[in-house]
Amino acid sequence: MTDQSGVLNDVRQGMIPAHIYNDKELFDLEKERIFGRSWLFVAHESEVPQAGDYVVRHVLEDSFIISRDEKGEVRALFNMCLHRGMQVCRAEMGNASHFRCPYHGWSYRNDGRLIGLPFHEEAFGGEEGFKKKGQTLLPAPSLGVYNGLIFISLDPNAEPLEDFLGDFKFYLDYYTKQSGGGIELRGPQRWRIKANWKIGAENFAGDMYHTPQTHASVVEIGLFREPKAEKRKDGTTYWAGNGGGTTYKLPEGSLEDRLRYVGYPDEMIDRMKGQWSQAQLDVIGKDGFMVSAASVFPNMSFVHNWPRVEEDSDDVHPFISIRQWQPISENETEVLSWFAVDKNATDEYKELSYKAYLMCFGSGGMFEQDDVENWVSLTNTAAGSMARRLLLNGRMGLLENGENVVEPLTTEQYSGPGSTRVGYSEYNQRELLTRWADHLERPIEAAAQLKVGMTAVRKTSKSGAALSCVTATAPTDEAADSVLLDA
Ligand code: FES
Ligand SMILES: [Fe+2]
Repeated sequence: MTDQSGVLNDVRQGMIPAHIYNDKELFDLEKERIFGRSWLFVAHESEVPQAGDYVVRHVLEDSFIISRDEKGEVRALFNMCLHRGMQVCRAEMGNASHFRCPYHGWSYRNDGRLIGLPFHEEAFGGEEGFKKKGQTLLPAPSLGVYNGLIFISLDPNAEPLEDFLGDFKFYLDYYTKQSGGGIELRGPQRWRIKANWKIGAENFAGDMYHTPQTHASVVEIGLFREPKAEKRKDGTTYWAGNGGGTTYKLPEGSLEDRLRYVGYPDEMIDRMKGQWSQAQLDVIGKDGFMVSAASVFPNMSFVHNWPRVEEDSDDVHPFISIRQWQPISENETEVLSWFAVDKNATDEYKELSYKAYLMCFGSGGMFEQDDVENWVSLTNTAAGSMARRLLLNGRMGLLENGENVVEPLTTEQYSGPGSTRVGYSEYNQRELLTRWADHLERPIEAAAQLKVGMTAVRKTSKSGAALSCVTATAPTDEAADSVLLDA
């Protein structure tokens, strides 16, 4: 394998070897060292509200059934039959008490436990020959939930999800906790783009700079109240924990005035005041900033904006979208785009907000079309031999001597956590790419193997740490007792 240390060092300096956006060998490393251990968003609890509800989601090639079992617990089950490996659940979403494998008919409860096995007696010698009890679809090694957002990690020793999110949780609440009811989702719309997955994540993390150029036409047709796309330079970028994003500067006024300016009705503003901390309210009411796009490392993004929806009205309507840049290859990405809305909002608000979302984002959204044209073209150009000789300049916000063009806001100027600056910069893109480099540099421990139908033996990894992947979300203790882990 090629020594990538030069590439990683350049990236850390903000000088980006152009081929990282279309390189098979780097993609293989990303699969193993980023997607093989990072926390990854798979679904929201509101997508599986009732016992038996499930959705099927992917982490690269790995398919997982995200189900709510009969006891109400959320599970992430590797969607591969314990017998000969057929995909057990072939539908994308639904409600089921059991999943029956289409190949030979083994069936599993919605908590993963093997319950039915045709010709158990004749083919396996019954319970004596092969104990059904305790067999379970392989659970995701780690599972965590924050504000209803369900994340999994393929690393059984992943740090707690809340530690991973860190101070980004402060910002996550603006998108996913506008009231005690939390959010509900519609979608996702799914489609594929011939672009590298990192580009979308970087763009949403901090690229306010592209708006006046790439999205000029969206402003020209009057979709926004502000007549100039350059308005974005008055907003901030912030980075906190493992995520970061951008904000818009709001006009003078009280907290209520500013939330009304963005299009929130008074009854939602009342709930926000009861839900958010004083610091969260102060970012809006005192400092005058409203969150817009954001990304969490590695491939989850958010967007919040407030276009005009109705032809004959100047009113704006806010919307929130959650998205994921699911890598297919070094030059193809499946985009998953959900519409998110406060569960307690009125039906009328939800409909207008949904309309606002569809105009801007989703497969037919105007912003989406503008953005993707750039990203596909960039990915194509990154595949050639000349791209291997080019270091892209991703140092916006830094002087040649490494000093800041603009200093971070002080705690008097800004009430939120993290490092926040007014104006155009690429601090956030560098934060994402530095994490990318750190992961690629660090080899991953050999994964544990699970053999079905054997007596429990627990082995330890090379470093001596016990591998505990089957116990992470196994439905019962007995279930974990009948598998063999092999380092
Ligand atoms: S592969 Fe599933 S029952 Fe045989
Ligand atoms: Fe954009």
